[in-house]
Amino acid sequence: MSLFITFEGPEGSGKSTQARLLAEWLREQGLNVLFTREPGGTPIGDRVRQILLSPDHTDLTPEAEVLLFSASRAQLVRQVILPHLEQGGIVVCDRYADSTYAYQGYGRGLDMDTLRYITRFATRGLVPDLTFLIDVPVQEGLRRKQAGTGADDWNRMEAEVQAYHERVRQGYLELAAQEPDRWVVLNGLEPIEALQAQIRDHVIRKLKHMPVATQHPTRVSL
Ligand code: TYD
Repeated sequence: MSLFITFEGPEGSGKSTQARLLAEWLREQGLNVLFTREPGGTPIGDRVRQILLSPDHTDLTPEAEVLLFSASRAQLVRQVILPHLEQGGIVVCDRYADSTYAYQGYGRGLDMDTLRYITRFATRGLVPDLTFLIDVPVQEGLRRKQAGTGADDWNRMEAEVQAYHERVRQGYLELAAQEPDRWVVLNGLEPIEALQAQIRDHVIRKLKHMPVATQHPTRVSL
C-alpha cells in the first residue's frame, strides 16, 4: 500500500526530527519506507540545494529561487518518490511543495496561481496523502535554530527578517485550513515523544482508511 507523507513547518519547528522518527518507526513495523528531504534528496537536487542555501547568494531573485526549488523537486519526484510509491512503498519527505506556497507565496508574495502551475508541472500533480504541520511561534523557532546550529550554519533563509517568518507561519496555517483532510496541525512546543505519538496515531488511522489498491500514478495529471 503506498502512502506519501510530508512534514512542514517554520524554521526550528522540530519537523525533521519528527519525520525521521516516524520513518524509523514505520520501518520497524516492517513497512517499505523511503525517507527523503527537500531541497535535495538526489545528487542533482543536492547541488541545487547548495546554490539555494548559500549565504553568498544574496542576489538570487525570487523567481530564480522558486524555479530552483521546483527543479530540485522535479528531480526528486521522478527519480525517487514516484518509483517508490509505484512499488507500493511509503515515502516520508521533510518539506515538499507546501514549503514553496508558504515561503515563496506567503513569505515572498509571489503569485499563488503561478506557483500552483509551476508546482503541478514539477511534481506531475503528485500531492501528499498526509501532511503534518509542526507549528511553533517564530521567535521560539529561530531561537532553537540559532542555539542548535551555531552562527556558522546560519543560512541565507534563516537570516531573513522576522516579518517574513511570520508570514510563512500564517501561510502554513492558512494552507492547512484550506485542506483539513490532508493536513494535521500539531503544536511544536509539546515534547518530542508526545508529538511523535500523535503523528503515529494519525498515520495508523490513515493506513487503515487507505483503499487497498491506491494507485498514485492515476493522480498524475500533466
Ligand atoms: P533546511 O536547512 O533544510 O532547513 P529546515 O531544517 O528548516 O528544513 O533549509 C531549507 C530552507 O529552504 C528553509 O528555510 C525553507 C526553505 N524552502 C523554501 O523557501 N521553499 C521551498 O520550496 C523549500 C522546499 C524550502
